[in-house]
Amino acid sequence: MILLGVNIDHAATVRQARYRGYAATVGGPVEPDPVDLATLAERAGADGITIHLREDRRHIQERDVWRLREVARTRINLEMACTPAMTDFALKVRPESVCLVPESREEISTEGGLDVAGQRDRVRAVCEAMRAAGILVSLFIDADPVQIDAAAELRAPWIELHTGAWANAWHGPRRGEEFARLVAGARQAHAAGLVVNAGHGINYVNVAEIRTLPGVHELNIGHSIISRALSTGIGEAVREMKARMNPAG
Ligand code: PXP
Repeated sequence: MILLGVNIDHAATVRQARYRGYAATVGGPVEPDPVDLATLAERAGADGITIHLREDRRHIQERDVWRLREVARTRINLEMACTPAMTDFALKVRPESVCLVPESREEISTEGGLDVAGQRDRVRAVCEAMRAAGILVSLFIDADPVQIDAAAELRAPWIELHTGAWANAWHGPRRGEEFARLVAGARQAHAAGLVVNAGHGINYVNVAEIRTLPGVHELNIGHSIISRALSTGIGEAVREMKARMNPAG
């Protein structure tokens, strides 16, 4: 059975679009609450909740992570940049796992994999701190043999293959080639003893292919699930508002 990690960042993006200046992250008019959605996702069968505390705090806030820590009944997978400040934060919050991702302020979402091979010492330091604390480390990397070798060398127990290039190629001629790269990457990683997860750009259509990735352990999905929740929820939301506007009618 493939596990599902639900990424709730986009709910916080909607909240921050309106309530960026507010001290409160929940309560009163401040909505939606990503932590509330995490609870609902868990009840619906999510195997874990993925949450990315970005350096610029553009969506998830520290308070969200702490509140999630209190209420989560599954697992928290904290996506984070490979920095001393984030390492300190993770060691305080103690998520079940951290996923190390590259971060640049300009990107809309995480656009490329972490360059593990190019910054081994930096990544090693975080891996060792997490290992000592009993927190699993996942490295978000492209399906690149050099990066997979580096992840194995650092004894990260998990990798998350970046599926963005494959998802972007879905409607074009390079889709087969991109999927073949993921398959080769998954095989190489398994041979090196790594657990293989995958994420980025997975949706209700392309999941039919990515679920066939050999031995894939967990898929982390955000955008498409939050988008689907908006579509499937809009009818009920409108009906409820209409009923409150016209309680007698
Ligand atoms: N996995 C990682 C490491 C990510 O950075 C992201 C994007 O935040 C996701 C999975 C989820 O991607 P998407 O929102 O496209 O499903």
